[in-house]
Amino acid sequence: MWKKWFGKSDTKQHNDYEGIDHSRVPKHVAIIMDGNGRWAQKKGLPRTFGHRVGAETLREIVKAASNIGIQVLTAYAFSTENWRRPADEVSLLMNLLADYLDNEINELNKNNVRIKFIGNIEGLSKSLQEKIEKAQALTTHNTGLVLNLAVNYGGRAELTRAVKIISEKVLKQEISIEEISDSTIEQYLYTANLPAPDLLIRPSGDFRISNFLLWQMAYTEFWFTETNWPDFKPVDLIQAICDYQQRERRFGGIKNTKKR
Ligand code: IPE
Ligand code: IPE
Ligand code: MG
Repeated sequence: MWKKWFGKSDTKQHNDYEGIDHSRVPKHVAIIMDGNGRWAQKKGLPRTFGHRVGAETLREIVKAASNIGIQVLTAYAFSTENWRRPADEVSLLMNLLADYLDNEINELNKNNVRIKFIGNIEGLSKSLQEKIEKAQALTTHNTGLVLNLAVNYGGRAELTRAVKIISEKVLKQEISIEEISDSTIEQYLYTANLPAPDLLIRPSGDFRISNFLLWQMAYTEFWFTETNWPDFKPVDLIQAICDYQQRERRFGGIKNTKKR
């Protein structure tokens, strides 16, 4: 259904989409949805307006990612540090998230998207937690795009949590210290069983990772744009993927030796 919409409604996007090398589509794309406030302020509007338009952008980018054949899209919606913002902005963001789930969940489900939340969900309101659990349960058997929404997420908090879980297991003698490996740690991250991000996109002209997927991004390719998230279009996603496809990933090796 989305495929039809995508192909017919915007010829320019469709043509650019054809420019992607389909044999090398990144499996996992992570996005820091940044710049909503600046986008609104530049237009003389309240920051909250930017967040509303930013939620629309997410809808469009999820469709595009699904059509392109990306397997996992992780979108950073609210960080553990975003609680430092004024209470009315925080509460608007939480309401937008609830609205997103209410309005989108059936469409996502119809399109075989599996929605997952990463972050400290227990730190959110009970009603939001219920919506999140319902959305996850409804789509749990879907086999298309995995949409990971990072909410109340912090890379440091995620690692601290993993350390605590593993320490507990050591204390209970379920695991020995010698047995702890990279994959043990990975197993206790929110992203367990998912491939690491191949590509990170950060809009809005800032060049930092802001506590996002610290462990997982060890070998991720970074792509930045000045465009603010509310103006970000499928064509920008396509550009990022095309640029990614020109990169040479070496993973610490040297050219063409990865498989030796
Ligand atoms: C991203 O936009 C949304 C969240 C962090 C929740 P911002 O609100 O950070 O927008 P800027 O960076 O201030 O422009
Ligand atoms: C990162 O953006 C978090 C999200 C987009 C959800 P911020 O706007 O919070 O990051 P900083 O404060 O500019 O580093
Ligand atoms: Mg920001």
